[in-house]
Amino acid sequence: MKVLGISAGREAGNSEILLKTALEAVEKEGHEVSFLRLHDYNIKPCTGCEVCTWLGRSNQPIHCKYKWDEDDFYSLMQQVDECQGLILAAPAYHLLPPGLLGVLVNRLHGFGYSASQANKRAGDPKLRRAVATIGVAGSDWNSLQVPVLNFYATELICSQMNLVDQLFTTGVPALGNVAIKPDVLERAALLGKRLASQLGDSGPVEYLGDRPEACPICHSDILVFKNGRLSCAICDVAGDPEIDENGKIKKIRWDGGIEVSRFSMFGGKKHDEAMGDAVKKTQKMGYVFTEEDKRIIKETRERINSYLTPVKPERKAE
Ligand SMILES: Cc1cc2nc3c(=O)[nH]c(=O)nc-3n(C[C@H](O)[C@H](O)[C@H](O)COP(=O)(O)O)c2cc1C
Repeated sequence: MKVLGISAGREAGNSEILLKTALEAVEKEGHEVSFLRLHDYNIKPCTGCEVCTWLGRSNQPIHCKYKWDEDDFYSLMQQVDECQGLILAAPAYHLLPPGLLGVLVNRLHGFGYSASQANKRAGDPKLRRAVATIGVAGSDWNSLQVPVLNFYATELICSQMNLVDQLFTTGVPALGNVAIKPDVLERAALLGKRLASQLGDSGPVEYLGDRPEACPICHSDILVFKNGRLSCAICDVAGDPEIDENGKIKKIRWDGGIEVSRFSMFGGKKHDEAMGDAVKKTQKMGYVFTEEDKRIIKETRERINSYLTPVKPERKAE
């Protein structure tokens, strides 16, 4: 089996040290490993043209408005398509994974719609990919990092919540800092071993990580308050807290598992319903509007566009 490691961190930095430690462990289990550094890839930001969205919805082979030779997106995606396991490693930048990773994931938009499309590209209809994540952070400013990293990792494998393990370490601000933390290095090797154990099967991926305290699906801990209930910010599964005698949350009674999350047929239907009448089930290409609505949208856009011209960037010569 092939396992790809992607690092969004510095060259031979903390993310990369832990990622490669995990990949070494994967290789020891008899699998093929490869590695790429996101900084080597020039990826243009998504322009919101939605070419990929509509191709995906009409079950046509997905591509972006940018062609192969316009940037390095397809070259990267080809490597993701060809892997059966993925480890995504990234530092915390402003509470989140770096924007560079966000740029990649935005470009995946339509590609993430359908695992079957990815499997078609990989030539294996039954293929399911397992993922693991590694997050490193300088300080305690990291609350959104791992949950978002887990989400990005699953988006990369076409919105499948196949998380096997997650490793998160803080207090490593300096370049290579993690090298002096043998326990963390050991934990990275364990992550690699755990991922390797989940490769090549066709059944559900088993979560083997050790942060089981919050969401039962993505095992993250960002909950949002929604309609008087708690809900996982990543998976959109709702639940109600059970309070103990000290007024603390004892546990959360969740509505269910992956079958009621956004990573399911149920979630897909909910997603489409949330877009209102603009998206019809039978509609394959483009949004649906009445002639009157089209006129209002056109006139409003024209009016808004003619009010205030954007200030364009100014480049001063050296
Ligand atoms: C632009 C920037 C923003 C950062 N923001 C945070 C942050 O919000 N929270 C945090 O804990 N560390 C932050 N850091 C520190 C990095 O997460 C830390 O140095 C990490 O070890 C870098 O990983 P790397 O060596 O794999 O690149 C930031 C670093 C940079 C360069």
